[in-house]
Amino acid sequence: KRHLISAADLSRDDALLILDTADELAKISERSIKKLPTLRGRTVVNLFFEDSTRTRISFEAAAKRLSADVINFSAKGSSVSKGESLKDTALTLEAMGADAVVIRHGASGAPHRLAGWVRGSVVNAGDGTHEHPTQALLDAFTMRRRLGPLEGRKVTIVGDVLHSRVARSNVLLLNTLGAEVTLVAPPTLLPVTVDSWPCEVSYDLDAVLPKSDVVMMLRVQRERMNAAFFPTEREYSRRYGLDRDRVAKMHDDAIVMHPGPMNRGMEIAAEVADSPRSTIVEQVANGVTTRMAVLYLLLGGADLGGEIQ
Ligand code: CP
Repeated sequence: KRHLISAADLSRDDALLILDTADELAKISERSIKKLPTLRGRTVVNLFFEDSTRTRISFEAAAKRLSADVINFSAKGSSVSKGESLKDTALTLEAMGADAVVIRHGASGAPHRLAGWVRGSVVNAGDGTHEHPTQALLDAFTMRRRLGPLEGRKVTIVGDVLHSRVARSNVLLLNTLGAEVTLVAPPTLLPVTVDSWPCEVSYDLDAVLPKSDVVMMLRVQRERMNAAFFPTEREYSRRYGLDRDRVAKMHDDAIVMHPGPMNRGMEIAAEVADSPRSTIVEQVANGVTTRMAVLYLLLGGADLGGEIQ
């Protein structure tokens, strides 16, 4: 495959190949080998039109650990603020020789458009409310490391599904990998198309928690909401927040996830975010390894076994 734009583009074999490659890369880095020469001479451009901490930094770290050259572009401070279009920005980067363009954009569908304009691989690092496929891959990688194979595992995704590209990509990928997903959200924060998604829907978090192997909390995305539709923090936390009392309903081995950034005290209590069940910091570390696997496979890096002798 040339691009990674949607989790729906990944067959079960594609997804397992990425996760197994990430496992192999994690084992290599556990042997204190920090840098591999496999993408030497290749150029990865990080094209970020929306803010990011984790995704931008981890794609940069991933490309550098594979010895690629990295160009970081953020819309702030660029000619985008003078009105330059996505297409002209993309063609400018293309002229500089990008082998892969990692794009985050506020418009759903921007990575798909970009793929029609550039010769290199396009990786979707989050487009509007549409998808964030590498987040779903790093989440699946984290679940596999904690729980083993995902077939039959019960994953509950809670919160602002309406604005969440993370939720959509996770539902698609987890379904491909054989997990059973339940979404829990206020009716006003579910997309109207949710009936066609391959998952269950519930409005009762307390009823779903005891059956869950994974509880993934989503950020309430105020920046994408009309202020009139903000849920009040108290009411939202009372019905959909994960606090100590709710965690007590989960089984002993169940884990708590959050893609970050978190609204501590709203969708997740600070003591839950920092508890041993929480994989939030592991998710960030696993993001680098998973994104290394994606870049390595898309750019056809040299054989890992041969490179590390
Ligand atoms: N999870 C995630 O996409 O975080 P950033 O917005 O910080 O990249």
